[in-house]
Amino acid sequence: MAKSTASFVCQSCGAAYNRWQGKCDACGEWNTLAEEDSATSVPVSIRSRRKGRTFALESLSGKSQDAPRLASGMTELDRVTGGGFVRGSVLLVGGDPGIGKSTLLTQATSMLARAGHRVVYISGEEAVAQVRLRAERLGLSNAPVQLAAETSVEDIIATLSDGTVPRLIVIDSIQTMWTDTVESAPGTVTQVRASAQALIRFAKKSGAAIILVGHVTKDGQIAGPRVVEHMVDAVLSFEGEGSQQFRILRAVKNRFGPTDEIGVFEMTGLGLREVTNPSELFLSERDLGTPGTAVFAGIEGTRPVLVELQALVAPTSLGTPRRAVVGWDPSRLSMVLAVLEAHCGVKLSGHDVYLNVAGGLRIQEPAADLAAAAALVSSLVNAPLPTDAVYFGEVSLSGAVRPVAQTAARLKEAAKLGFGRAILPESARGEVGSDAGLALNAVGGLTTLVAEIAARGSRRPGQEGTAGEKNATPARFRRQEG
Ligand code: TYD
Ligand code: MG
Repeated sequence: MAKSTASFVCQSCGAAYNRWQGKCDACGEWNTLAEEDSATSVPVSIRSRRKGRTFALESLSGKSQDAPRLASGMTELDRVTGGGFVRGSVLLVGGDPGIGKSTLLTQATSMLARAGHRVVYISGEEAVAQVRLRAERLGLSNAPVQLAAETSVEDIIATLSDGTVPRLIVIDSIQTMWTDTVESAPGTVTQVRASAQALIRFAKKSGAAIILVGHVTKDGQIAGPRVVEHMVDAVLSFEGEGSQQFRILRAVKNRFGPTDEIGVFEMTGLGLREVTNPSELFLSERDLGTPGTAVFAGIEGTRPVLVELQALVAPTSLGTPRRAVVGWDPSRLSMVLAVLEAHCGVKLSGHDVYLNVAGGLRIQEPAADLAAAAALVSSLVNAPLPTDAVYFGEVSLSGAVRPVAQTAARLKEAAKLGFGRAILPESARGEVGSDAGLALNAVGGLTTLVAEIAARGSRRPGQEGTAGEKNATPARFRRQEG
């Protein structure tokens, strides 16, 4: 390979260039290139051609003294990690500043320390006094967590190598760490990568589990250490709306567990509270009887989660109508809109469309198609959907409603929360039989659903007789139908 003279490194993805340029060709980000000293960015140990030493080769069946997993005791956290922290593994926890990463990890480390494990918390951002203040607020001051405010990776590793190997080490945050082996400034990609590498090596060698905290940029990428994402065993992302109290912990990557589980927390004055029944939380602030809202019976990982979808369909004043979606895949929304137009005669090209998933949840299932369609049509014709109904089903391009997995679990959760009926795919009805606990309203095609909602719109004189603007929409819609 040709000798590299690159000295401008993209701070987002780590690609290197020998000239400055505005845009990184590798990841497409603008203004992320920063000058770094490439000649010294290769660790000294690699540059000096030292003679290799021999090491012992091991068998696959070797046994480790301790349980390979360390459960934190926080059910929601353990659910996302897949049952606890794996020995010798490194986990990256990303999230916006102020979302509660330090709070979550202070709580988790305290529980483990109280259970008798050696747990170390290294803060590179806050002074010891600040960390103590938080622990005091959380009522955890007496937990025997070992605490330090340090940023030198070499010093940290030397300290941790002393005495019994800690079961868990928290590094808060990886962006503040620096190592002697490279000369770039702390926080640069080269530093973050080298520091993470050193810590990962220590974890593998010692068997301690390490949690690295990473900051997230505006667009949700773990800043700088996107390169770190490839190096660690698991990446968890801690999300939430600043204005709301819900926090969702989600596995983005997990070598030792599932990636579709979520952990739900609520930020209170006394730290994070685990929410074992998220549906209750997501439905707690429902606007009953408002047009444009539908309850989706979803599945997150192994757990059913009911959540409200909110749609607003309003006449546009723009040449190209707006389509905005929060918490769902925009291309899925475009598809549902296209199917509504093509097969159900619902004309939406003159309308702005907004879709929002309540509570800051992000839905990835196609099963939300039917609920989204119901909410959209309900908003368009200004007819509220029945308040005791849940919706789920995938919509195909032909307008058929297709079955989805785990029908029974979805229905059980809905019945438990007091819902009276489910609008679901035709073929799913046979799957559960008659003892579902709630009325089943099967729809074979989206056209049926649209007709039912439109009929409700026309039958409700109270709804229709309001403002002239509201009146206009159902009328126009009925013309389309006819
Ligand atoms: P923090 O854990 O410091 O966030 P991060 O490490 O992700 O930057 O959390 C900071 C926010 O959480 C701050 O706005 C205050 C709030 N908070 C509470 O509401 N209750 C609490 O008990 C604690 C400790 C923090
Ligand atoms: Mg913090």
